[in-house]
Amino acid sequence: MSQRLSIESLYNKSAERWLAWIRDITGLGQDTMTAAVAAATIAAILLTTTITWKHLSPSRKPVPFQGIPTPKGARPLVGHLFSIGRNRAETFHRWHQELGPTFYFRLGTKNILVLADPNATHDLLSVNGRVTSDRPESTIRYDFGEKEIKGIAFGQPSSKHYVALRKSVLYALGPKKLEEASPILCAEADEFVDIIATGKNIEPLPNLMRVSLNFIFLTVFNQRATSTHDSLYKNAMHIINTAMNLTHFKYIASQFIPVLKVLNPFIGIKKKSLDFHINTIMPFYLELIEKALDSDQDNMTKDLNEEMNQGKRGYYNNLLATIHDVILAGTDTTAVTISWGFLRISSMPEIQKKIQEEIDAFVNKYGRVPFFWERDEVPYMIAVQRECMRTRPSTEVGVAHAVSQDLEWQGTLIPKSTWIMANMTDAHLNPDKYQNPEKFDPDRFLGKEETMASSMNQKIKDRDHFNFGWGR
Ligand code: HEM
Repeated sequence: MSQRLSIESLYNKSAERWLAWIRDITGLGQDTMTAAVAAATIAAILLTTTITWKHLSPSRKPVPFQGIPTPKGARPLVGHLFSIGRNRAETFHRWHQELGPTFYFRLGTKNILVLADPNATHDLLSVNGRVTSDRPESTIRYDFGEKEIKGIAFGQPSSKHYVALRKSVLYALGPKKLEEASPILCAEADEFVDIIATGKNIEPLPNLMRVSLNFIFLTVFNQRATSTHDSLYKNAMHIINTAMNLTHFKYIASQFIPVLKVLNPFIGIKKKSLDFHINTIMPFYLELIEKALDSDQDNMTKDLNEEMNQGKRGYYNNLLATIHDVILAGTDTTAVTISWGFLRISSMPEIQKKIQEEIDAFVNKYGRVPFFWERDEVPYMIAVQRECMRTRPSTEVGVAHAVSQDLEWQGTLIPKSTWIMANMTDAHLNPDKYQNPEKFDPDRFLGKEETMASSMNQKIKDRDHFNFGWGR
């Protein structure tokens, strides 16, 4: 006790001496001094608190994925690899139900953010598109021999040719060209109808693949396959199917678990992919490219070669990668979308009847079937197409984007290299957007006959589907 008193008295004495000294040199009175000391004490406390707080939270940068939930089951090194299962869309749906519209999970060293809310997806992929439009680094495309060869689907928006290439591809496939290509589309569709009208059992998918492939091949090369037995069709399908298989996890696992790169040469994965590119993909496209450049008709190969190589012959690596992308991206997606549509309505005779009546009415009036731009004459058919695509989006979770630099987004940090997936399947099941989302109900799209492309470009609140249109 006496010890404490003596410390206090010591402290008081030395404080008094300091105050007297300050009074002497400033000439301030007792009251003014008390106020000044109180103000100085408060300022000192504030300063110390600020410095300590700043020190504890350096630059107040948000913590990665703060507030964004992640599913249970992550394991060291592999992350959620063993929790995903065979059906990714089903697992994501379950995780959304447990965790909400936004979650992230880990695959080896990569963080993957999955979004089902269209507003959040739009904000992240479109509004912040400058940093979220990259593609993740791909081990697949390296096999064209040079790192910078990425074509369009794996090209980075910042890379040399991407913007010009995309413009050329969009122009070559845009509404004006589509109108010009209508006779091609109609001839292909007529041939498909002749095949299914034989009354025999046929598998629609290969025939639909040929229809979509022919449309793209005629646009790109002025070439078409005359049947599913034609070697052009068979070789193209072999390439499409093998390229799709090469995106299987076992071929790209080293992107997520880098240590596996050491094993790749021993288990032959790299070699298989490289052999396929050099011995199958390249000769197939090189022959078609040469023929297309020799052709006296216009085609997309000529346009792209002009854009990329100023028309010179012999520099085909990036051109080849781009053409390969257009064929991969356009054939399977279109054929699978139409096949799902057929499957969906095959058990709905009422819906088939309504479509039939609508088309019959058009044929009676004009003596022909409708063109693409006569959509408002067949609103029910368009509504069925939209409802099929809502309930079965062909790409389920789209094509992954990657974050090119650390991004502060909605109070959290999305670190550089995070993958982003726009979950179309779940966006299309949002009850706030679609009443009774589980019900197949084409009527919800009646009065929305504009093209998918134009509705995609509307304000996010007015968009009626989310199959495409996320920033790139
Ligand atoms: C129902 C049919 C189709 C669906 C559902 C579909 C869907 C998609 C999706 C989701 C993407 C990724 C977009 C993104 O990065 O966020 C994409 C990219 C792409 N699609 Fe399609 N697509 C279809 C038809 C086509 C067709 C017919 C072509 C060409 C003939 C095509 C060419 C491309 C290309 C070149 C890309 C890459 C664009 C880029 O990365 O910048 N697609 N498509």
